[in-house]
Parts: sequence; structure tokens; C-alpha cells
Amino acid sequence: MPRSTVARIDLEALKHNFRLAQAKAGAAQAMAVVKADGYGHGIRAVAQALAQDAGKFAVACLEEALEIRAAGLNQPVVMLQGVHSGQDLDVCRQQGFEPVLHNNLQLDWLAASQAPAYWLKVNTGMNRLGFRPSDLPAVMEKLKHLDQRAELQGFVTHFACADDTASSMTQEQTRLFEQATEAWPSLMRSVGNSAAHFLPEQPLYDWSRPGIMLYGASPMIGQTGPGLGLEPVMTLEAPLITTRVLRPGESIGYGSTWVAEEETRMGMVAIGYGDGYPRHAGTGTPAAVRGRRIRLLGRVSMDMLAVDLTGVPDAQEGDMVELWGKTVSVDEVAVCAGTIGYELLTGLTARVPRDCR
Ligand SMILES: Cc1ncc(COP(=O)(O)O)c(C=O)c1O
Repeated sequence: MPRSTVARIDLEALKHNFRLAQAKAGAAQAMAVVKADGYGHGIRAVAQALAQDAGKFAVACLEEALEIRAAGLNQPVVMLQGVHSGQDLDVCRQQGFEPVLHNNLQLDWLAASQAPAYWLKVNTGMNRLGFRPSDLPAVMEKLKHLDQRAELQGFVTHFACADDTASSMTQEQTRLFEQATEAWPSLMRSVGNSAAHFLPEQPLYDWSRPGIMLYGASPMIGQTGPGLGLEPVMTLEAPLITTRVLRPGESIGYGSTWVAEEETRMGMVAIGYGDGYPRHAGTGTPAAVRGRRIRLLGRVSMDMLAVDLTGVPDAQEGDMVELWGKTVSVDEVAVCAGTIGYELLTGLTARVPRDCR
């Protein structure tokens, strides 16, 4: 039997989720974050599907921005990590990419270049990238004397805890951001990962930046994408390649971690951690076959995993098993594997073909 493991990509669901993000963004415009190969869904297909609706795309780096041009799309592309050399700025200007500049080295390259449109990153507490609010006046003073000042679009900040409704961090970051940028009201402001779209009263200013919610997974702690009104975009499927009945006392797979207490009909599914399915998903992790939920048994191997077919006696070799998708949300699998949906989606390997519809 040929290996038919596949990630089916539902582009209508993607569009639905973008429309929801835009509705939640209110007066702000939502730029579509498509970094990390469109969160594992395929950046070209994702960008093409959103091209009608998204006024801008956002990616991490230049290589990803070039992928959008290779897909034949002309929208501005915001580069969230800025540039890695002065030459990158030339490419940005030629291609219509908008780097988010976050340190003095990048400003020195800017001063020596013909500037592209660009943004400045303000560090309001995430402490990964950006100028401190107290440093912003000096940065703006430096830019004032440069021709490159004219290309400045505005200010960006990124929230550290927007996924946690119990945290006051987002409010504090918002306050710092407003304070830091109020002296330049004619410039734009961009905040708001997906989670911020689900926080009541959260201002999103001119441009919000939804990522994970576009793909139908949850940005909020303890919630699933469908629970938030999102439609799962990826359905990861693999075939049942064998079934067998285990006798009491028999175990499955490496480490013999699961041992049958009674006669158990189980099946082997052609997917494993070599495909990006998480090895830390243990016994009990949900999957589905024939529309019914089943559970994993024992350890995930590189190319295979075992499932309990007790509840689905009609399941047979050749049936496709859903590892995550419309029946089992990727968020549920992520919890079982001690991670987040983001990591599972972006971690799917090249061995799994993406089938976009
Ligand atoms: C600066 C920035 N903005 C927006 C996003 C989108 O975040 P999310 O996928 O949580 O919506 C990211 C993602 O990591 C980011 O780094």
C-alpha cells in the first residue's frame, strides 16, 4: 500500500479566519502573518488565498518575503525581524518590503542607504527586540536629520502575555506604547498578535498582525480554535496500515510503555515524529477515524504510531486517520504533547505533502 500521509489545507477556512480577524480588528487593518512557511501550511498557497483581502503580509525574514514575490503577489511585506545587512535594505526598497528596524546597527545601515518604507520596533516589555521607550526620542532626533526619515511608516510593538487573560502585562505594554509614541501622531502604530484580537477593549491602532488564528488554532491559553469561532485549516491524515488484536499482557512499540489489560484491537498509522507528529504525545492523545474519536497507544515512532480501535470496530486497513483537523483540534494534541499548536503546525516536515483546496 503506498504511503498516503497528507496535510489537507482548506483555503476557504483560511479566508473565513482572516475575515474574523479583520472583523475583530475593527478600525485597524489586519496584516496576514505568513512566516514559517505560512505556519507550516505553505506560504505561497496561503498568501495567494489571502491576496484579495490582506492589505499587507508579514514575515520574519527577507527569504520569506521573496517567497511572496515568487508567488506573483505585489502587496507590501512587513519583515518583523528587520534586515541582516545594509544590502538587504536595497532589496527591500526594490521589492516593496517594509523592515521593522530594531537596533542602532540597522539604523546605521539605513543612514547609508536609499531607504525602503520601514517601521521602528519599540520594546515595551517583551525584551526580545526594539528600542526602549526612553531611547525613542533620541532615535527620532537622529532620523530627523536624515532623508530616510520620510520613509518611516510608524511604530510596532509585540505583546508578551496577550494569550493570558489573567495577566495585566498587555495593558501595561499598551500604556507604555501609547506614551512612547504619542509625540508623533501622524505616524502609524501596529500592535496585536492573534491573542490581542480576543481581548475586549484592546486597541489595535492602525495595523494588527494576526498569525496563528488565521490557521484556525487557538492563540489563547486553555482554549481551542473552534471554541473561539475559528475553522481549522489543516487536516493531517495518515492511513491505517495494519490492524491486530493484542492479548492481555502484550505491549506496543518502543519501551513497551503500554500493555494491554484486556483483548484490544489496535491499528498502526503511517505517521510519526519523522513527519513532525510530536513524540511526546503519549497514550490517550486523541485522533479520529470514520468521524469517531480514538486514542493513541504507547510511544510514537519515527514513521508510525499505534491507535486503539476498540470504539470503532468497523475501522479497517486503508482507512484514513485524522491526527488533527476538524474532529480533533491541533490545540488538543498540543496539550497532550506539552506544547502549543504553533509548534505542531510549523514543525510538520517536508515529507508530508500539502494538498491545498
Ligand atoms: C512581531 C510579531 N507580530 C505578530 C505575530 C503573530 O503572532 P500570532 O501567531 O500569535 O498571532 C508574531 C508571531 O510570532 C510576531 O513575532
